[in-house]
Amino acid sequence: MKRPLFLLILLLLTTSFFAACTSVKQPETTRNTPPTRDIDDDAGQGNEADEKMKEPVFDFESGTLTLNSGYSMPIIGLGTWTLDDNEAENSVYHALKCGMRLIDTARYYGNEVGVGRGLKKAIDEGIVKREDVFITSKIYGGNYERAGGIINDALKDLGVEYIDLLLIHQPGSDDEGVYKAMEDAVRDGRLRSIGISNYYTKEAVDEVLSFATITPAVIQNENHIFYQNNELKEYVKQYGIVLESWYPFGGRGHTGDHFGNEIITELAGKYGKTAAQIILRWHMQAGYVVIPGSSNPDHIAENYDVFDFELSAEDMARITALNRQERYENW
Ligand SMILES: NC(=O)c1ccc[n+]([C@@H]2O[C@H](COP(=O)([O-])OP(=O)(O)OC[C@H]3O[C@@H](n4cnc5c(N)ncnc54)[C@H](OP(=O)(O)O)[C@@H]3O)[C@@H](O)[C@H]2O)c1
Repeated sequence: MKRPLFLLILLLLTTSFFAACTSVKQPETTRNTPPTRDIDDDAGQGNEADEKMKEPVFDFESGTLTLNSGYSMPIIGLGTWTLDDNEAENSVYHALKCGMRLIDTARYYGNEVGVGRGLKKAIDEGIVKREDVFITSKIYGGNYERAGGIINDALKDLGVEYIDLLLIHQPGSDDEGVYKAMEDAVRDGRLRSIGISNYYTKEAVDEVLSFATITPAVIQNENHIFYQNNELKEYVKQYGIVLESWYPFGGRGHTGDHFGNEIITELAGKYGKTAAQIILRWHMQAGYVVIPGSSNPDHIAENYDVFDFELSAEDMARITALNRQERYENW
């Protein structure tokens, strides 16, 4: 290809990418430094399992909520399941460039190194500071000793001094020991907030509350328009626990059913947004933090462009009525 023509195409591609990012109406605080605060002596710490705690309030101006640990958490971010290190690096970098400030990974995904590289690149380029970004990771079970080592491995792979939120990935044989190791890591500053993932019943959550000295801040579960955790979300509100949705689009292989749903496409037309944006907005307005996964910078920008419209109560109810308790996974 002739050099001037090549340069022109490169210029057009670069400009259209930046246009995609900058046309997004961004929440106020994620443009700058979101407020994070040091752990209060009492916020979310100590056994408050039987006390009423403040229920999580979604602030659409700042795009954040305050966890029961006292820390601020963005209400939408990037999921990285199935991304390898290179894809994760690229997606994290583009997400941060577009204004997203929440990144979700896990030891199991094997991409914490890539996530760390994406974060470092954005920091080196002056796009964000470490404290602007909320990193979630997850550990698998084991026991107290093993979990302590895994937390250190996660810190090393991510290249960070602390992790904003660590979750038990799914119920295991010694949750109490693993949770205790996480609580100790909160106390010595390696973790800021802790929680659990794939705990679907009141009984499963109650069991964790029975041994927790730090109330979980977040429960991350499969949650989408066809499988909603509404009852659990209502139950855990009293503990200030927030629900976070994985598979917001049904996960790879099911997105067509979600994006092609008649009500979703009708609402996309009505609000002048995409099906993905209607679904993400439903999650947040319904009180779910949401982490759509993507390896595509255009999709990432689109997924963050959800702060310039609001679904009416009636339209929210129409989407909520799509619930048919259909799960795609059984872990
Ligand atoms: N705790 C757990 O056990 C657990 C389990 C599963 C997932 N998770 C977390 O939850 C996150 C979300 O789940 P997921 O990533 O598996 O599934 P998902 O977010 O429901 O769907 C991801 C799929 O949607 C596509 N997509 C994303 N944005 C789109 C857009 N705007 N338009 C069209 N297609 C779009 C992606 O393709 P492109 O790549 O082409 O954009 C990908 O195929 C994960 O990434 C992970 O961080 C946690």
